[in-house]
This record gives sequence, C-alpha cells and structure tokens, in this order.
Amino acid sequence: MTATLTKTTAWQSLEKHAQDSKNMTLRTLFGADATRGERLSAEGAGLYLDYSKNRVTDETMKLLLDLARETHVPQKRDAMFAGEKINVTEGRAVLHTALRAPRDATVMVDGRNVVPDVHDVLDRMAAFADQVRSGTWLGYTGKPLKNIVNIGIGGSDLGPVMAAEALKHYAQRNLTLRFVSNVDGTDLVEKTRDLDPAETLVIVSSKTFTTQETMANARSARTWLLAALKDDAAVARHFVAVSTNAEAVQTFGIDPANMFGFWDWVGGRYSMDSAIGLSLMLAVGPDGFRELLAGFHDMDEHFRTAPLESNLPVLLGMLGIWYNNFHDAQSHAVLPYDQYLAYFPAYLQQLDMESNGKHITLDGQHVDYQTGPVIWGQPGTNGQHAFYQLIHQGTKLIPCDFIGFCQTLNPLPLGDEAPHHDLLMANVFAQTEAMAFGKTLEQVLDEGVTPDLAPHRVFEGNRPTNTILADRLTPRILGALIALYEHKVFVQGAVWNINSFDQWGVELGKVLAGKIVPELHAAQEPELKHDSSTNTLIRRYRTRR
Ligand code: F6P
Repeated sequence: MTATLTKTTAWQSLEKHAQDSKNMTLRTLFGADATRGERLSAEGAGLYLDYSKNRVTDETMKLLLDLARETHVPQKRDAMFAGEKINVTEGRAVLHTALRAPRDATVMVDGRNVVPDVHDVLDRMAAFADQVRSGTWLGYTGKPLKNIVNIGIGGSDLGPVMAAEALKHYAQRNLTLRFVSNVDGTDLVEKTRDLDPAETLVIVSSKTFTTQETMANARSARTWLLAALKDDAAVARHFVAVSTNAEAVQTFGIDPANMFGFWDWVGGRYSMDSAIGLSLMLAVGPDGFRELLAGFHDMDEHFRTAPLESNLPVLLGMLGIWYNNFHDAQSHAVLPYDQYLAYFPAYLQQLDMESNGKHITLDGQHVDYQTGPVIWGQPGTNGQHAFYQLIHQGTKLIPCDFIGFCQTLNPLPLGDEAPHHDLLMANVFAQTEAMAFGKTLEQVLDEGVTPDLAPHRVFEGNRPTNTILADRLTPRILGALIALYEHKVFVQGAVWNINSFDQWGVELGKVLAGKIVPELHAAQEPELKHDSSTNTLIRRYRTRR
C-alpha cells in the first residue's frame, strides 16, 4: 500500500517548514539577499518567470521539488508524453502534446504513430482556411463567406474564444468571427442578428457531438440559415463540423468531407490546438496557427527536459501547492496586463478547475488535503479599480500571477507624457512591489497621517506574486503561455494524485437537466418526484413560462 500524500517525507517536512517560517516576510527575505530578484527567476520558451516575490527560501524550493520528486512528477510527465493511458477512469491516453509535435516526430498510441494523422488534419484545415480566407470557398448563393460562427461550449469554445481575442492583431480583419456557446437563445440571436446567412460559415465544434447546448444551437443555426436560403443543399456550403464522432456529424446532415476530426486522447479543455482551433485558424491563417503550435511545442520541450529547478510549469505548480496546501489559500488570481488576454482567466478556469477540481485520488480514496484552487482574474489595470483592494488589505491570501509584455502591439504615445505601454507596465511592477512590501505604520505616520487614520493606510504586504514577462504577444508566445498553464495543472494533479483528465463532476447536472426538460414541456403537469424545492420551482416556472 503506497503512503498517502500527507505521509510522504517531503510533505511532512513542508508542514514543519511552513510552521517554522510562519513569520517570514518578503521584506526580510529581500533585505537579506540583494540578488534574490535575479536569482529566483527562470526562463523557457520565450517566457521569463520572476518568482522571487513568493514567501519562499531556498529551503522551501528544495522541499517543494523534493515533493515533486517523491510524488513521481517527472515519471508521470514522461508517461503522459509517451502516450500511456494515464486517464485511467476513461481508459485513455492524454496526448495533447502530440497535437503540436513536429511532422517528423513519432508518438505511438496503441501501436500507431499518430503524428501523421495530426498533420493530415492540420493540412486539411489549412486548405479549407485558405479557401475561405481568400474568398474562393463560395456560399450557396455564390457569395464568399465573410462571417464565421463557431458553435461549441467548454473546451470546444473557450480556447478559440480566448486565442481569437489574444491574436486579434494578427487576424484577417475582413472576417467577422463570433462564438455561440450558451444554450440561452439570446446568445445565438444576438451573435447572428446582423449577419447575412448567405455570407456565413457555421462551424459546429463538439468532441462528442452530443452536447445539449451545442446541438440545440446547431439546430437553430441551421433553421436560421435555411429560413434564408430555402434549400437543404445550402447546409453543405455553410456548415462544417469539428468532432471525434463522424456518425453523429453525418446524422446531423453535415457532409463528412466537411468534417475535421480529432481523437479520444485529446481532452476537451486541451483541444484548442486540434481541429477545435479551426475558427482560430480561419482568423489568423494557417501560418499563424502553426506558429501557435510551435510555441506550445517549445513549452512541451522545456517541460520535458528542463531540470525541475528551472522548469517553469514545475515551479508554478509547486508554488501553487505551497499556498494551497500549506497556507490555506483558497484561490489563485491570474492578472494579464494585456487587453488581448481579456479571456485568458476564463479559459484557465476550465483548464484548471475542470482538471483539478477532484476529491478522489487515482487509488479511489477520498483526499485528506486540498486540491485545485478557485481560479479567477481580469485584465489589468481594470482589476486594480475593482477587486485589488481585497488582495492588498483583505483577510484572504490570494497568490497572483501577473503577465506582461515588454513591447506593445499598439503603441500610443501621449505627446510628452509616458506612452500607454509604460503606464501599463508601471502598474505591473508597482502592484507586485506593493503586494510584496506594503507600507508600514511607521511609514504612514512619517507621511503625516494622523494616528487615528494611519491603520487604514497600512499595507501589510507579504502578498505573494509571480511575474511572467515575454517580449511581445505573438502566436508563438501565446502557445508557450497556454502550454505553461496546461503543464502547471498537470504537475499539481500529479502531486495530488488525482486524474486531471476526466470530468465526471459535470455529469450529474447534465443527466438531471435531461430529465427535467420533458417535465417543463409536458402539456399536463407530470408527477414531479424531485425534492420539494425543485418541484415548487418547476411548478412556478410552468405556470409563468
Ligand atoms: O462540460 C463538460 C464538457 O465535457 C467539457 O469537458 C467539454 O469541453 C465540453 O463539455 C464540451 O464537450 P463537447 O466538445 O463534446 O461538446
């Protein structure tokens, strides 16, 4: 019987170390080591990580990496890259890394090298994207298609939504890109109301092709299209599918020639670099998409080969564990200082929380430790005028990742004043400085604040942050950044000994909704067998709908 996580030597040492270093402050740590800011940093795949503003010493980092080793993170990582069926509850390999492997790589799944399959689909996607982008793919009435509506949800939506916004600078701007995900009809209606169906391409993106929301939206989109074009034959020119379920795609009425496939070894939330990224490829072009994949691959290689001490996903993952498991932090904020990364926190919510929001270990035991944190965030500087107050002076410990770029894609000088980008980046540096070092009562009093008001102006500091800097937001850097977080999530799941690649927790609600739909529909009230709350709510809805 293997020892549970909390019984491992490294865990116990970390518990003791956390107790011993309770009073450690970033002020003293920086005061004692003038080189800390340079020393506690690491670089890989074009990303620079400064983790010096964390409540850690060299001893802490050593113990955290001991924990990574004792929980076999390197071996588990290698098993994932090798295509072992590490998603044990679904009996699947976990090979999103194969989606960005170079053409000449070999990745075996069940005795078959899947890399040629990956590149076949990429090539088909590229040929299709080129036709649409150049206006040679014509709609049913002979018009080129200039609107793209991606219908999908969760992993079949959030990645392309996030990346299409992140890479807007590189997009072909005469194409209008919309994403419909919510089963609330408002989403589809509002996203299509100003579009001409004759000029619109609908991409139905669904790994399973059974997801209730996506199928409902796809059917309504087809109705919308046919109401204008009045011929079923139009569907073949205006609908394409991205899925692993060829049969369901065909049943829906989409020509299999217009289907782009992927495989069961690609998890939904790890699928944006598969054919699920078709909408994104249409926006940024095949070359831009391939650059993105190259960035993912850069980070894969870094994760696979860099020593743990300088391995970015390992460092981020283990630092997260330090706060999550040894400091009772409940959440983790991701704060991108780039407007293009507006949807990055929302994307990470699925990636992280659907992966590591689990309480049963791989051995089927209930955990006796905390697992995945609540992930949240907003782009800077907006958050500063909203929730940063709580981070600075509230009672909760919220470790934060700040993400910034040395060069802007939209230089805006302000005459003699500082350019916008300097203003933006000054805020990154100022916020992490303020969070780390705060402002003491003494400093406040020295500024002449009266003693009664002074406590309100004190900043305790000691709020931990990571700063991730890259030169410029390019497709390649975006790929590296996403893969950084994918692998961070992997590292944490490996330590917690949970399956980061299933999502049984979303099933119950889906099943119950499936039962309730006919109860809402029925002409006569059916016999309701729910609890008294659910029954009453259903009745009230039925009488007022
Ligand atoms: O919400 C659960 C989930 O299965 C996600 O993991 C997935 O990304 C999403 O639904 C969409 O699934 P599909 O691509 O099969 O429509």
